Amino acid sequence: MFRAMGVVLSAARSGVARRAGSSSRFLSGPSDSRRLAGKVAVITGAASGIGKATAAEFVRNGARVVLADVQDHLGRAAAAELGGPDTACYTRCDVTDEAQVAAAVDLAVARHGRLDVMFNNAGITGGNYAGAPIESLDMADFDRVMAVNLRGVAAGIKHAARAMAPRGQGCILCTSSTAGALAGSGPHAYSVSKTAVVGMVRSAAAELAARGVRVNAISPYAIATPMGARSVREMLGLPPRGAGDEEEEEELVRRVFEEDLNEMGGGVVLRAEDVARAAVFLASDDARYITGHNLMVDGGFSVAKPLNVPAS
Ligand SMILES: NC(=O)c1ccc[n+]([C@@H]2O[C@H](COP(=O)([O-])OP(=O)(O)OC[C@H]3O[C@@H](n4cnc5c(N)ncnc54)[C@H](O)[C@@H]3O)[C@@H](O)[C@H]2O)c1
Repeated sequence: MFRAMGVVLSAARSGVARRAGSSSRFLSGPSDSRRLAGKVAVITGAASGIGKATAAEFVRNGARVVLADVQDHLGRAAAAELGGPDTACYTRCDVTDEAQVAAAVDLAVARHGRLDVMFNNAGITGGNYAGAPIESLDMADFDRVMAVNLRGVAAGIKHAARAMAPRGQGCILCTSSTAGALAGSGPHAYSVSKTAVVGMVRSAAAELAARGVRVNAISPYAIATPMGARSVREMLGLPPRGAGDEEEEEELVRRVFEEDLNEMGGGVVLRAEDVARAAVFLASDDARYITGHNLMVDGGFSVAKPLNVPAS
């Protein structure tokens, strides 16, 4: 009997050892510094800001990246900085044109044999951060913002799924915003489009999980990218860049991001690279069971609302 128990125990122990072995391999594998080794990614809106920073972080982590954007000059320069065409290349892709989104996906597959990560990140704010009453909502602007921020994301999910689902694996990321979670922190069309991105992500995740494809959103708070800086200039009522005292205005905008809008203490300021690292995590196998999630990268902005208690 003791012998039989010994066999059971040693089998259990070897099972434990096997599991421990596989879990330690999982924890200490190539994931530490090159968490995306061998993966192929397409990133839209990659010529600037968050997309550009994510392309760099993906390459640093071993991925090969297709940078897709409408700013050809900046996009080509960003790709060139990241190494040769085997590592990073640029393609023109206006996300409002489904055929161009399909072509960006096909380019990645033709060049590298497959697509592992699609980052639907291109976006515009439209409207004006100075705010305008809803009675004067510009419907043409509304359609433009939806076409880029929502329809562009839908097309990205559609064509990424076409490449990923037959292989039973893949990760789709979509940039939403804190403006999608909290109304009143962006122009109407922008805010609505970013809320809808999260709805699109959930709807696609619900279908694609069983086919091995994960779909997640990332919602950043205010970052001093060209888009972010333009928005703050609008909030402050500053003229477009180049029309005033550039140095003084830039210092003002910097202070708004680093002090007035900043939620995090300890000298930490939100940068595009913080979003890029969140994207690396979600795209990596470390996040292999995470889908339908909206990862807030916001220093707690969306969980806090101070009470309106009158000062005594
Ligand atoms: N900066 C912020 O404060 C902030 C906060 C939350 C969310 N976001 C979101 O992050 C994403 C990236 O913005 P960013 O801050 O890096 O701004 P950015 O202006 O630096 O980059 C946006 C990029 O999208 C590209 N783009 C615009 N329209 C396009 C189209 N039709 N097709 C393809 N590319 C197009 C632009 O050319 C640009 O390179 C956007 O979706 C934005 O809404 C930004």
